[in-house]
Amino acid sequence: MPNTLLEITSPHIIHCGQGAFERIPAEATRLGSRAVIVTGRRLHGSEQIAELVRNLESRGAAAHIADPVTAEPTVDMVDELAGFLRSKQADVVIAIGGGSVMDCAKAAAVMAVNEGSTEDYQLRRREITNPPLAQIFAPTTAGTGSEATRVSVLTNPRIGVKRSISHPLMTPDVVMLDPDLTVSCPLYLTTTTAMDAFSHAIESAVSTKATAYTRHTALAAIEKLGAGLPRCQADPSDTDARLDCLLGACLAGLAMQQGMGASHSLAPALCIFTGMRHSEAIAVLLPHSIRLNIESVPAVYDEVKRALGTDDIAGRLEELCSTGGFACSLARFGVKESDWPAVREIMSRYASHRQTNPVEVTNDYAEKLFLRAVRG
Ligand SMILES: [Fe+2]
Repeated sequence: MPNTLLEITSPHIIHCGQGAFERIPAEATRLGSRAVIVTGRRLHGSEQIAELVRNLESRGAAAHIADPVTAEPTVDMVDELAGFLRSKQADVVIAIGGGSVMDCAKAAAVMAVNEGSTEDYQLRRREITNPPLAQIFAPTTAGTGSEATRVSVLTNPRIGVKRSISHPLMTPDVVMLDPDLTVSCPLYLTTTTAMDAFSHAIESAVSTKATAYTRHTALAAIEKLGAGLPRCQADPSDTDARLDCLLGACLAGLAMQQGMGASHSLAPALCIFTGMRHSEAIAVLLPHSIRLNIESVPAVYDEVKRALGTDDIAGRLEELCSTGGFACSLARFGVKESDWPAVREIMSRYASHRQTNPVEVTNDYAEKLFLRAVRG
């Protein structure tokens, strides 16, 4: 591995374990006095959030609840939430939800204190000059690892692209990994979001730019996810297993700092073409991309095999998907082989992760991966 200059970012504090959620009011009032809570549809209006508001108020903080984030975030959703944060003069943002909630909140926390529209920063690479509002993140799925990263992935529906905004200071300040928040996550979502976390870890481990820090963190993530997911699938209420998956996803987020691989090159185009979720596209692509890559860096994949406890990484992931009610085939989402030119055209608007895959993701490589994924 090259000894490159590396900038590592991470949250200041990660609370891990049952009861972490109850620490939100103490952390929030340490960081500010006017909190806005951002959630998804399921938690919005719940007794759990109402109680959080009461606990914040009992500590002398103002607390407001933003409209729920109900879809993968767009630049317009971020502008709207940033406006809400400004209107409440918020100084701390509490995001409780999955990747969409966290990415929307993360971007809004920075846009609330920077001029212009989110699109300026996403498309025109305007420089972020002011540090974001304080952020406390509590994931309700073990998947994106957004709680550990400086990145917010946003859709721009006007021109049909998915592109991120990022800044080192956008990394959340405090993270609550509380397994009680994920026990109600259904089997299918538990499985597909875990596949996204697996992809972050595996693709970071084999990245052409991997460093000792990112590779070792990635391997630790694979070990946690590999140990946790089968137990979550067998017993959804197993909080130890849920915590293993939360830790695995968070470690994968920490590892994801040196570029990823082929499944993340092609997934955004598939999401735009089919409307499928990011985690579903990744779950389909990951095993196929591993089979296309494995001969190029066998020694690194041997480390992945050891961390996962299997000789057949792709086969083991497909087995876990099958247990979770998910088939690794694009045909299940109505995609046909003849759709490749249209998907390729959308993909041509992205250049991400092509060079950090162990085999460069050329158009030929991407076509091969697409066709294998359609056939399943
Ligand atoms: Fe991902």
